[in-house]
Amino acid sequence: MRVLLIGSGGREHALAWKIAASPLLTKLYAAPGNPGIGQEAELVTLDIADHAAVARFCTEKKIDLVVVGPEGPLVAGIADDLRAADIRVFGPSRAAARLEGSKGFTKDLCAKYDIPTAAYGRFGDLASARAYVEKMGAPIVIKADGLAAGKGVTVAMTLTEALAALDACFEGSFGKAGAEVVVEEFLVGEEASFFCLCDGVTALPFGTAQDHKRVGDGDVGPNTGGMGAYSPAPVMTPEMIDCTMREIVEPTMRGMAELGAPFSGVLFAGLMISDKGPKLIEYNTRFGDPECQVLMMRLKDDLLVLLNAAADGQLAHTSVRWRDETALTVVMAARGYPGTPEKGSVIRGVEEAARDGVEVFHAGTAINSGALVANGGRVLDITATGGTVGEAQKRAYAALDRIDWPQGFCRRDIGWQAVAREQAR
Ligand code: AMP
Ligand code: GLY
Repeated sequence: MRVLLIGSGGREHALAWKIAASPLLTKLYAAPGNPGIGQEAELVTLDIADHAAVARFCTEKKIDLVVVGPEGPLVAGIADDLRAADIRVFGPSRAAARLEGSKGFTKDLCAKYDIPTAAYGRFGDLASARAYVEKMGAPIVIKADGLAAGKGVTVAMTLTEALAALDACFEGSFGKAGAEVVVEEFLVGEEASFFCLCDGVTALPFGTAQDHKRVGDGDVGPNTGGMGAYSPAPVMTPEMIDCTMREIVEPTMRGMAELGAPFSGVLFAGLMISDKGPKLIEYNTRFGDPECQVLMMRLKDDLLVLLNAAADGQLAHTSVRWRDETALTVVMAARGYPGTPEKGSVIRGVEEAARDGVEVFHAGTAINSGALVANGGRVLDITATGGTVGEAQKRAYAALDRIDWPQGFCRRDIGWQAVAREQAR
């Protein structure tokens, strides 16, 4: 099979690594990719926003499957435009990607299909949003409706904070994404990420993980795209997975089909697990980054077989096997992240780190005069497995400490909740 992978982050490096291991693969291209992905694939310069150009490339190179990593192109309709040109795609249509592209759309779907989620209101103007927030009181959560690169959510512990977040949205801090606002009840519990592969009809559970969104140890400081993750998530017991499928994922699949927008691709449910069971915080319509990295480390099966089954509507006849170990990834970020990161500093020791089963996925790197340099906020994902979360954590940090990059930083406590649980046993 000839495959084109779209994207350039750590998620896509992990996907490229796993796709490259498939006996079905004859040629892998990646656009735009990064130096790590370049070890697995031929990198091509394509304007991803120019769907006609991507389609021309696919026809010319006889691409059998396009795998779309990030949400941006999906929400922009790349899957529709490629399918219209008879090109097979793993990823949802524009209409189905509204599950990520519009928080209000998802909340309305939850209301219609009785899917457990935070109580909410949708507002298109400041005055009515303010009135609702003042009536509900703090803590309360304010969300820009559209895609805002993970920055459009404010968990406001006070009324003042909540009103300031509303002002920011309606003053245009998030551009068009904030022209509409969702105001939500504050949920309490433990967060978990739950993934399904979907083919429009069937959703196949595809692993669990826990992410660490805050930049600092002990979960303090500003939100990031994710500073580390591990899989599986101990809160996602088999019973909790069954309950999530029954109460959240299956009604979503049914609802999307009824709306004429059947969902195919990765459905990523961000969940809050409370003593009353799972509630949906949000959907993403792609793999998590860095959650994908730990899933790929644990996946026993051929990823290409699974992506094919999803693209062809064959998931009802498919199963997935996982390694028993825990996988854990630690993100090394460039100083300045999640604000403006310093670019261009030289990174040494990646080969020394990536041994004994440890993988170092590239998230934001470039080659400059033959040297590996930082070229983004999140730069490397050091990923290890172990019999326990504690063991995976120890191996990941031992590998990370072999990397020589003074301008980089990481959290030192990835996996802390699960490690504390293991130690309490
Ligand atoms: P989101 O971008 O929707 O995933 O939100 C970012 C983070 O904000 C989530 O991972 C949660 O930690 C937090 N969050 C979002 N919605 C809620 C909610 N209704 N209650 C409590 N925390 C929330
Ligand atoms: N790590 C969270 C996300 O990919 O949205």
